[in-house]
Amino acid sequence: MKNFCTFLAFLFLLIVSVRSDIIQDSCDEAAKGDPNVKSDFCVASLRANPKSKTAATTEDLVPIAIEDAIATATATSSTISKLLQNTSLENFTRSCLEDCSELYSDAGSNLQSGGEAFKSKDFGTANADISAALDAPDTCEDGFKEKPELVSPLTKENQDMFQLTVIPLAFINMEIPVSHVTNLQGLAVVAMELALQNATNNISMIKELLLNNKTLSPSSLGCLSDCSLLYSDGVVKLVDAVGAFLTGHYANADAWVSAVMEGTATCEKGFQEMEEASPLTKENYSIFQLCDVALCIMNLVAFDVY
Ligand SMILES: *[C@@H]1O[C@H](CO)[C@@H](O)[C@H](O)[C@H]1NC(C)=O
Ligand SMILES: *[C@@H]1O[C@H](CO)[C@@H](O)[C@H](O)[C@H]1NC(C)=O
Ligand SMILES: *[C@@H]1O[C@H](CO)[C@@H](O)[C@H](O)[C@H]1NC(C)=O
Ligand SMILES: *[C@@H]1O[C@H](CO)[C@@H](O)[C@H](O)[C@H]1NC(C)=O
Ligand SMILES: *[C@@H]1O[C@H](CO)[C@@H](O)[C@H](O)[C@H]1NC(C)=O
Ligand SMILES: *[C@@H]1O[C@H](CO)[C@@H](O)[C@H](O)[C@H]1NC(C)=O
Repeated sequence: MKNFCTFLAFLFLLIVSVRSDIIQDSCDEAAKGDPNVKSDFCVASLRANPKSKTAATTEDLVPIAIEDAIATATATSSTISKLLQNTSLENFTRSCLEDCSELYSDAGSNLQSGGEAFKSKDFGTANADISAALDAPDTCEDGFKEKPELVSPLTKENQDMFQLTVIPLAFINMEIPVSHVTNLQGLAVVAMELALQNATNNISMIKELLLNNKTLSPSSLGCLSDCSLLYSDGVVKLVDAVGAFLTGHYANADAWVSAVMEGTATCEKGFQEMEEASPLTKENYSIFQLCDVALCIMNLVAFDVY
């Protein structure tokens, strides 16, 4: 069983190392889901930010992408201020630039509040705020198009701003955050649920043996009714363990699952003490193993979280 746990840990490390290029993977997935995202631009812009080196998940990349977009909004605002210093600007051009200045200032605030909403896991607000920021570059560019003879002095800035804003938006919208912790949590729950199913099924088997098997000795029947209680108790404990685990109470979940294993072992020992063959050896074995897998994964998750 120790070996199995080592194997799982190894598998986990393997998965992490194979999928270590989180920037490339996240940008590719974002580009797949949103045709506005250009994967190359996405990768290049994220790599340019040194903070991205420590990112382990797409979720980690969101604040970095937002930060990049805010930096571009700020830089574009100062570019616009400089352009406005030109005293020989046409009135229309000046008014377009003034509109852009306001748009970029609002975009900066929207990105800021979107980033804060994301931090507090309010993905709906984060999506709405960042979508609002996405309007700025298009609206700014469209202003200059109203007079066909005008050439926008901000085309490059507007294109970059659009690209940089669409990246965090696409990341937020990727429905399931790509997180190894989340995947492991799912595995642990699956293992506990399998153990639960086995235990539940085995209770009906025990009850059937108790009722219908006339060849069992009285001492075996005594052990079986003890086992029936132990397995029923195990079912309750497994349900509690799943609940504790899902709410992050890893120590409690660990204790419940361990108690289930003790229960099936106690059942087996009952038969051993009576020197009777246990009809539940296979059941103990399966539940014991499933619980052990669950414990092993739970320890990995707890380790990853702290
Ligand atoms: C100022 O604006 C005019 C008219 O758009 C333009 O021709 C000129 O090159 C600008 N000057 C500077 C320093 O940007
Ligand atoms: C441009 O704006 C200035 C100040 O607002 C105004 O005095 C001038 O008449 C305007 N020029 C044109 C061509 O509209
Ligand atoms: C019992 O556990 C085994 C794995 O050990 C699983 O393959 C099987 O489907 C489970 N049986 C039930 C009835 O849940
Ligand atoms: C009754 O129990 C014995 C011993 O565990 C077992 O070998 C036999 O298959 C059982 N019979 C039925 C009908 O379950
Ligand atoms: C009890 O669980 C074992 C696996 O642990 C499974 O093979 C067996 O079918 C279960 N018993 C019943 C009656 O489903
Ligand atoms: C229950 O099964 C496990 C293997 O899954 C085994 O290590 C343990 O000794 C068994 N318990 C008893 C009392 O037989």
